[in-house]
Amino acid sequence: MSITNPVLEQIHQHRSIRQYKPDPVSREMVETIVVAGQRAATSSNLQAYACVAVTDAAKRAELARLCGNQDHINQAPIFLAWCADLSKLDYACALRGHPHVGNYVENFIIATVDVALVMQNAALAAESLGLGICYIGGLRDRTREVIQLLGLPHYMFPISGMTVGVPNDNPIIRPRLPLPAVLHWESYSNEGLDQALQEYDVAMVNTGIYNNRQVAVPGNPGVMEDYGWTEHSARRVSRPARTDLREVLHEQGFELK
Ligand SMILES: Cc1cc2nc3c(=O)[nH]c(=O)nc-3n(C[C@H](O)[C@H](O)[C@H](O)COP(=O)(O)O)c2cc1C
Repeated sequence: MSITNPVLEQIHQHRSIRQYKPDPVSREMVETIVVAGQRAATSSNLQAYACVAVTDAAKRAELARLCGNQDHINQAPIFLAWCADLSKLDYACALRGHPHVGNYVENFIIATVDVALVMQNAALAAESLGLGICYIGGLRDRTREVIQLLGLPHYMFPISGMTVGVPNDNPIIRPRLPLPAVLHWESYSNEGLDQALQEYDVAMVNTGIYNNRQVAVPGNPGVMEDYGWTEHSARRVSRPARTDLREVLHEQGFELK
């Protein structure tokens, strides 16, 4: 890509950081990051999100345990728990004498999209300040316990955590899928998908992050090939995960009607 500017350069520098220095991150910095997050567009200006910032080491240790023993949650001085939040809208309805019908799929989509946008703006803001971040989907591993630990009321739901701190690692920038697998002009076409996936498998194997593993070629027993992104991703989505979420959503008021 030849077009560039400081914002694009910053965007292209992103990589998840999983090792942090103990250096503190000031409250002012956290507030700056969250305020920048809030500048993201939000459905009907509803701002259906909230963020619980956790600094307390004992609480972070508990979160590390609940999020699949991810040690970088202990290391990073700040853990941001980003939540879908319809509770403020529930309150606004009570205040203004309107019924709140927040229990439809649509309301949950509004809230989760809003959370994704505020999170990514915040991530970029943190990175622009020289900090590192890593999203923590593990926040949904043991959701009931997380809800209790963070004191989330009805109509709030934890979507993703985020570690924030001074990087103590310099990981590679992971290549992304070739554009033909993502960008389609005028209408969708899967023409070129095979080639794009083959190229991407090679690119990801070359990063070394899959530890030069080998895997059997499907339908060709005994023949081995490099373990790449297609194998990694197919394995990832071939196992059910976090299967209690519908139930927990329901308990929190997100009935998904
Ligand atoms: C919603 C979400 C949840 C994630 N959860 C975790 C997590 O629990 N632990 C972790 O180490 N990385 C997590 N990641 C980071 C991804 O693994 C990472 O973004 C991806 O491998 C691409 O690498 P990069 O961010 O370095 O480009 C998560 C990312 C997203 C967007």
